[in-house]
Amino acid sequence: MPASTLDQLVSLCKRRGFIFPGSDIYGGLANTWDYGPLGVELKNRVKKEWWKTFVHKRPDMVGLDASILMNPRVWEASGHVSNFNDPLVDCKNCKERFRGDKLLEEKLGVEAAAVLKLDQVQPMLVAEKIPCPACGKVAWTEAKKFNLMFKTQQGVIEGEGSDIYLRPETAQGIFVNFKNILDTMRLRLPFGVAQIGKAFRNEITPGNFTFRTREFEQMEIEYFFDPEKQKWEDIFATWKKDSWNFIVETLGVAKKNLRLRDHEKDELSHYSKGTTDIEYKFPWGWGELCAAAAYRTDFDLTQHEKFSGQELKYTDPDQPDHKIIPHVMEPSFGSDRITLAVLLDTYTEETLANGETRIVMKFDPKIAPVDCAILPLSKKEHLIAKAQDLYKKITQETDLVVDFDVTGSIGKRYRRQDEIGTPKCITVDFGTLGEDEKQGEKDTVTIRDRDTLKQERLPISELIRRLAKP
Ligand code: GAP
Repeated sequence: MPASTLDQLVSLCKRRGFIFPGSDIYGGLANTWDYGPLGVELKNRVKKEWWKTFVHKRPDMVGLDASILMNPRVWEASGHVSNFNDPLVDCKNCKERFRGDKLLEEKLGVEAAAVLKLDQVQPMLVAEKIPCPACGKVAWTEAKKFNLMFKTQQGVIEGEGSDIYLRPETAQGIFVNFKNILDTMRLRLPFGVAQIGKAFRNEITPGNFTFRTREFEQMEIEYFFDPEKQKWEDIFATWKKDSWNFIVETLGVAKKNLRLRDHEKDELSHYSKGTTDIEYKFPWGWGELCAAAAYRTDFDLTQHEKFSGQELKYTDPDQPDHKIIPHVMEPSFGSDRITLAVLLDTYTEETLANGETRIVMKFDPKIAPVDCAILPLSKKEHLIAKAQDLYKKITQETDLVVDFDVTGSIGKRYRRQDEIGTPKCITVDFGTLGEDEKQGEKDTVTIRDRDTLKQERLPISELIRRLAKP
């Protein structure tokens, strides 16, 4: 994938209403992005498919929607106050700040850069003569630990409020509600809890469009099991497969652009005994798309039991004297990053037989932001009325998202629908009205396929069955 694809995609996203720069009319706010009318449909569909796959279609999973703001003790217990740090280096010349390990990634590779100790970062930057991306000088300070959590104040009286954090991961909301869920849902191990929600990290070097931002959304699962009854390696392998299948089979991301990568021992998060990422081949190189599975052991529940003083054990209903703190497997996805990978993966430029280039977003029809577009061939009132009737029929009888487009020539409208990835376009013409047999029979329409460009004449009565989602 050429590097220019990212610029082309950013431009298409703005032009077609997928993603806009945040606070645009005020000159923006660096690295913030707003999802436009089509972007929100696409991201919502990614989330809906995730929820359907991992919650609704599984008897062993339930959902949760916990608060972003949590008691600050949560973050002491979870280890984020002391361990959630990145190596920060300053350029002594221009005073810009960067993440030292990220600066070294291109030279050393992702794996080698990720395992560097804090005191190795600055000597390595100097030894490899890595220049400051802002001013070009090699003048780095020692690397310092930089905590990524956003701190804010709760309470209305200045100075008297208490410090609280914006959650840096959604996972802790699940651990903190473990007892509530256990007490209310009649669940037996193994079971999982899924949650979708915002998370915040004061990233040192955000960038690459929506890949790394300070506000983002996660889709996380904590899957609880009894390590005396199930081997963690088996659960780890199953989740790696399930996460992979979601990306490849449900979302339709091309396998050739994906790979699994096991974390090196030194690279593991403070809570993890084993993590495998799914990486995507982004235009700037391989990068983490999601954590297919991370084995968090009983770390979090044990810590919360200690810090809260509440018992967080599970009693086996068939063996009342078998009381354990369950272990946890965690698949963790970022909905923004996955949406970005879907956008990059589906962006296609094709040369048509007439030499014209068409840009087409080849979304899997399950997640395309618009399912079909109705295009009246002319602006004649009675033709528009017939097309509007068809719009009403489809939207009333199905859950499909339907666009109604009357502006510009039919060719231009097809191009526009290709650029937003609409799988089917339906043309209503004078044949449909019974006024021109050459165009087609009465009450038939032309349906055009986005990928094959094939056009077919169909009776309106058959249309809904043909448009039904797989
Ligand atoms: N609870 C585990 C956890 O948070 P992580 O690998 O730090 O693990 C999981 O984050 C996923 O969240 C990542 O794979 C990525 O998709 C997304 N993510 C993390 N930081 C992000 C950021 N700054 N911007 C966008 N997405 C991010």
